Amino acid sequence: MASVLLLGAIIILLNLASMSLAQPNHKCRTHCGDIEIPYPFGIGIGCAIEQRFEVNCSTTADGIERPFIHEQEVLNISASRGQSRVLMTIPSYCYNSSIGKMDLHPWDFYLAWPYRFSDVHNKFISIGCNSMGYIYTGKSRYVAGCVSVCWSPEELANGSCVGIGCCQNTITKGLTSYHVVFYDVDYLNSTTSWHFNPCGYSMVVEAENFVFNSEYITTTRFNDTYKGRQPVVLDWAIGNVTCEAARRNMSSYACRTGNTVCVDSPNGLGYLCNCSSGYQGNPYLSNGCTDVNECEHSPSPCPKSATCQNIVGGYQCLCPFGGNFAKETNSCTNGLIGVIIGLSCGIGVLFIALVSALLIRRWNQGIKIRVRKAHFRRNKCLVLEQLISSDESAMHSTKIFSLDELEKATDNFDSTRILGLGGHGTVYKGILSDQRVVAIKKSKMVDQIEIDQFINELAIMSQINHRNVVKLFGCCLESEVPLLVYEFISNGTLSEILHGDNLSSRTSLTWDDRIRIASEASSALAYLHSAASIPIFHRDVKSANILLTDNFSVKVADFGASRSISIDETRVVTAVQGTFGYLDPEYYHTGQLTEKSDVYSFGVIIVELLTRKKSIFLDSHGENKNLCHYFVQRQQDNTIKEIVDVQVLEEGTERQIDEMASLAMACLKHRGEERPTMKEVELRLQAMRGKMVMKRNHELERHGEAVTLLPSNYSNYFSTSFGAANSSNQCVTRCCTMERELVSWTDLPR
Ligand SMILES: *[C@@H]1O[C@H](CO)[C@@H](O)[C@H](O)[C@H]1NC(C)=O
Ligand SMILES: *[C@@H]1O[C@H](CO)[C@@H](O)[C@H](O)[C@H]1NC(C)=O
Ligand SMILES: *[C@@H]1O[C@H](CO)[C@@H](O)[C@H](O)[C@H]1NC(C)=O
Ligand SMILES: *[C@@H]1O[C@H](CO)[C@@H](O)[C@H](O)[C@H]1NC(C)=O
Ligand SMILES: *[C@@H]1O[C@H](CO)[C@@H](O)[C@H](O)[C@H]1NC(C)=O
Ligand SMILES: *[C@@H]1O[C@H](CO)[C@@H](O)[C@H](O)[C@H]1NC(C)=O
Ligand SMILES: *[C@@H]1O[C@H](CO)[C@@H](O)[C@H](O)[C@H]1NC(C)=O
Ligand SMILES: *[C@@H]1O[C@H](CO)[C@@H](O)[C@H](O)[C@H]1NC(C)=O
Ligand SMILES: *[C@@H]1O[C@H](CO)[C@@H](O)[C@H](O)[C@H]1NC(C)=O
Repeated sequence: MASVLLLGAIIILLNLASMSLAQPNHKCRTHCGDIEIPYPFGIGIGCAIEQRFEVNCSTTADGIERPFIHEQEVLNISASRGQSRVLMTIPSYCYNSSIGKMDLHPWDFYLAWPYRFSDVHNKFISIGCNSMGYIYTGKSRYVAGCVSVCWSPEELANGSCVGIGCCQNTITKGLTSYHVVFYDVDYLNSTTSWHFNPCGYSMVVEAENFVFNSEYITTTRFNDTYKGRQPVVLDWAIGNVTCEAARRNMSSYACRTGNTVCVDSPNGLGYLCNCSSGYQGNPYLSNGCTDVNECEHSPSPCPKSATCQNIVGGYQCLCPFGGNFAKETNSCTNGLIGVIIGLSCGIGVLFIALVSALLIRRWNQGIKIRVRKAHFRRNKCLVLEQLISSDESAMHSTKIFSLDELEKATDNFDSTRILGLGGHGTVYKGILSDQRVVAIKKSKMVDQIEIDQFINELAIMSQINHRNVVKLFGCCLESEVPLLVYEFISNGTLSEILHGDNLSSRTSLTWDDRIRIASEASSALAYLHSAASIPIFHRDVKSANILLTDNFSVKVADFGASRSISIDETRVVTAVQGTFGYLDPEYYHTGQLTEKSDVYSFGVIIVELLTRKKSIFLDSHGENKNLCHYFVQRQQDNTIKEIVDVQVLEEGTERQIDEMASLAMACLKHRGEERPTMKEVELRLQAMRGKMVMKRNHELERHGEAVTLLPSNYSNYFSTSFGAANSSNQCVTRCCTMERELVSWTDLPR
């Protein structure tokens, strides 16, 4: 009886063991044509981890076997990266001469679970002259868009996708479907560009693979490259739960036991398996991860003097004479002989060291050096701590300056060198020994919070690379508070230029410049919100933090208060920080920081650009007024004209001013949810700039003037002043519909 029970128990145990996830049997094919199909994918029924990973391997018309997943041809599958490359149809819009206009028809793309577009390896592009493309998802959520213009084929430049004939933008995470909208923005004379530009395209493409070529505009070569298709990188994941949740049900857990690790999908729901460090292979297969023979790699991972030995899960370096291997320096420390020599020397050295220590004590200089070293160690520890979780390679591009070097550069932090007193410290102008002019930021107070903010700024800045964000050259960690070394921006801040005290010498800022400044600043913020490796909220967006170069190009600065937010948190609760007059009321009341707090502050900047008033200003009765409340009130009373800057009224058209004001109103909405995202703001400003340039060009052409364009430099192109536009602002119907569409889509519920 007992033995029967025991047998039963064994059978149950055996069943439990075999219940774990099925593995492909040896009959399953591993290749389709030349392309490897690694598990969890499989060819045919029962060969994949589940039905949705089944690959359809069929012979195409040219007689070659090719894999398909959901009708899309697969180019590559990587099991360790959780990625596939597939070919997707190119949405095209061509000029139809029989109807005399562009054939605008909808294109939709849907990916089946478990696929989503990789936000890292793809980008959104739009090719065409005088076109605006954008994509949105089923929930009417705007994803990405951009505006591309060109007037003649001569302006185009190969490899340059910055708004002339080709424009690009980043896409959001977790994207699984999109609808393409393509507009002809050239409302003045659309037949002009269709003479040389037969078709336009808007879509998500693999970033690495895409290089703009002028022939994409003048011929249908872009469409012909892959016979109407383009490679796109798709991320995939197992299941739709995190690793932690997946491990609770071992029978459906896909990562095989032994030498595998589970990682949550970096792009949406689900998880991925990977081989542990020191192993390689397919983590979804039993015994799929095998030990890497590091020693067979060339160059050997060990220094020349040591011998390399493979061990399970790694390697070790054996030093001669029984010496120890130091991982940090990747070198051997003294072996046996070394120890003997070392010991005998040691006593002598100890004596000398004692004497010299006594001497050094007398020298203040010596003490100073040690203090500096101590600061350096402490600050560096903090910095490294911050950077360890993020991108360590970023540190390498940031130079570490010595304190002496920076003292020399600033005349010992002379008060005449002070450029400004920022919210988080004093900024000095410095000239480095290589004649580079830099701005050096030094904290006023020495408290831990300030130091933390500096370190925070350093950590964030070292990860950012955008042409409208001020560039960090390096830092100095030897002083009590770390010093940050930035590129020097010559023209001061937007606040100084708009609100400078001296009325007579006030810099004139054209309407064109104002739109461009807004557009560039929005593009920098949109980049911080969505394109940087981790989302970054600036938290202190204000005109005093917008620096301007000689030609009024924008550099967003002061990241002391910024927060980087991990991908799955869209909001965090923090101590409220920011500047009065720019502070998001919702954030102020709830303490919940979202990307929309920056959008609110940006709305205030737009109002400043329109009215040339400070965010908190004295009205005619000598009362302090909040510009934002004042503006919203005026807008509601329809008396906005009264507060708009005279120069704006002179140069801008009524329609343009209305458009700017309504954008500001959208940004200043009380509820964060109702405000547009920074990307939407960026696109609306880009569309405005595009239309202004088109219009300007058209007017010049009509007046028989030559239009000089600088194709490779978009910002110069737009900043080139074409003189004031006093023309009437009649709007062709098509343009109005487009604007309405733009406005309505940003107002859609999400
Ligand atoms: C496999 O893909 C080909 C080409 O897309 C298609 O014609 C065929 O019907 C598909 N077969 C199955 C079983 O889905
Ligand atoms: C595609 O696969 C080939 C070899 O199969 C490999 O060399 C290449 O790097 C892969 N590309 C991507 C993007 O995974
Ligand atoms: C798996 O590990 C390899 C090597 O460390 C790495 O390149 C790859 O990105 C990892 N894959 C995932 C999905 O994290
Ligand atoms: C052009 O438009 C006409 C009318 O809509 C249509 O019948 C024709 O197929 C179109 N031509 C092309 C090349 O799309
Ligand atoms: C771009 O490259 C193509 C060849 O790929 C060439 O025909 C064309 O003239 C080039 N365009 C420019 C503007 O250099
Ligand atoms: C549009 O351009 C075409 C060709 O350049 C020209 O013939 C036509 O008169 C223009 N139309 C207008 C309204 O300017
Ligand atoms: C793009 O290429 C595909 C396949 O060759 C073709 O069917 C389609 O008509 C082409 N579209 C354009 C705009 O040339
Ligand atoms: C997760 O997957 C299960 C089974 O495929 C499905 O029933 C469930 O709705 C999914 N959950 C989410 C949030 O997608
Ligand atoms: C565990 O996974 C198996 C196979 O997918 C499923 O049948 C079972 O219901 C799951 N158990 C729990 C507790 O979720």
